[in-house]
Amino acid sequence: MSERPAPAVTVSELPSHPGVEVTVKGWLYNKRTGGKVRFLILRDGSGYVQCVLSKAEVPEAAWNAAAEVTQESTIEVRGVVRLEPRAAGGVELSVLDFRILDACKDFPITPKEHGTDFLLSQRHLWLRSARQVAILKIRSEVESAIHDFFYKRGYTRVDSPILTPNACEGTSNLFETEYTEEEKAYLSQSGQLYLEPAAAALGKVYCFGPTFRAEKSKTRRHLREFWMVEPEVAFLEIEGLMDLAEEFIKELTVRVLDRRAEDLKRLERDLTKLETVAQKPFPRIPYREAVEILQKKGFPVSFGDDFGGDEETALAEDFDTPVMVTRYPVSIKAFYMQPDPADPEVVLGLDMLAPEGYGEIIGGSQRIHDHDLLLSRIKQHNLPIEAFQWYLDVRKYGTFPHSGFGMGLERFTAWMCGVPHLRECIPYPRMLYRIYP
Ligand code: 4AD
Ligand code: MG
Repeated sequence: MSERPAPAVTVSELPSHPGVEVTVKGWLYNKRTGGKVRFLILRDGSGYVQCVLSKAEVPEAAWNAAAEVTQESTIEVRGVVRLEPRAAGGVELSVLDFRILDACKDFPITPKEHGTDFLLSQRHLWLRSARQVAILKIRSEVESAIHDFFYKRGYTRVDSPILTPNACEGTSNLFETEYTEEEKAYLSQSGQLYLEPAAAALGKVYCFGPTFRAEKSKTRRHLREFWMVEPEVAFLEIEGLMDLAEEFIKELTVRVLDRRAEDLKRLERDLTKLETVAQKPFPRIPYREAVEILQKKGFPVSFGDDFGGDEETALAEDFDTPVMVTRYPVSIKAFYMQPDPADPEVVLGLDMLAPEGYGEIIGGSQRIHDHDLLLSRIKQHNLPIEAFQWYLDVRKYGTFPHSGFGMGLERFTAWMCGVPHLRECIPYPRMLYRIYP
């Protein structure tokens, strides 16, 4: 390459350098060759740019390299940024010089169709494909938006532990590990129990981290390791919790629409479906009514039954925004949920179901704040009282009503992206029978 220094820039920075000579490094995404021109699409993670080589304008070595270069080879291009309204990103590079930094041989993923099993075993390489890049960018945007949402509202982030001595969300899907020779530990199923004492210290708190559930079935909505964000708020009751959950989902959706339009377009996402979310109130349906709706749709459900994926889809299909199902039976919900004083067979909890068949994205509740009531619920659930002594202390020393919820990052991201399976919404999915790579 010539000695002349051209500033090194990323593809995303090109539009702010019109007419300037620059150097870009990345990988070959695609190429087309004509008689006297060769078109190389370079990708560098920040974007894609078409690099145009004319035989007359580049050194012979560059012209030949452009003929040889293979998919996913590492490349360096020096050229002049040209505004090109028809190109993605609005620019092209008129190439002055081009070289291959590392020639890539036989990249396993080609533009032809591959089976999902194959792609999952090549996940480390599959990440480079345009669709996966778009999904990961949207996921990352959602993560930033989550932190901004809580930061703006005065929440303190409190990280819950991952190694825990007991279960939070039932014992059927616990990952067990050896802590010491005498003691076992379990990977966290939720940070909630640790957030409640923190809410007494800091008022409004949230945690956001990896969460583990040893799911024993393969579904498109379940991962064994996923990321959950959980706010917990002192003096917040169920109505306020529903408002918070609605405001949260609306703000995240608007943020994705505003900042990741290009990625949504690449995923061919129907934007009108997401735009309505911000514009309308989310319906709130008590469980008892939800049962009637499902019965009318032909589902054989009655009070006390939990809803599966099909029921969730059927409940959500009448609406174009998420819907909150509230006041589930005590018998099917976690031990810590506050019973409704007006209807003690149900709890002051909510599940938010996304439209378009994406299922439950949020689960939350008001928590029992009465010490003796919580103690009796722990006993009813046959949970070891000694292990929950610290949790009971929150009710012993200055108790207070409080509420919180958990949102699965991958569930929300899948819905935003219009991607049916969670496995594409986390960089390295952990599923039943899959822990490689
Ligand atoms: O409804 P869940 O089990 O609620 C809790 O864990 C509460 N302790 C949260 C709280 O109140 N702080 O899980 C919350 C959300 C679900 O709505 C779903 O979005 C996601 O976590 N989720 C999963 N996502 C992917 N794979 C799984 N196996 C999931 N299980 C739950
Ligand atoms: Mg749930």
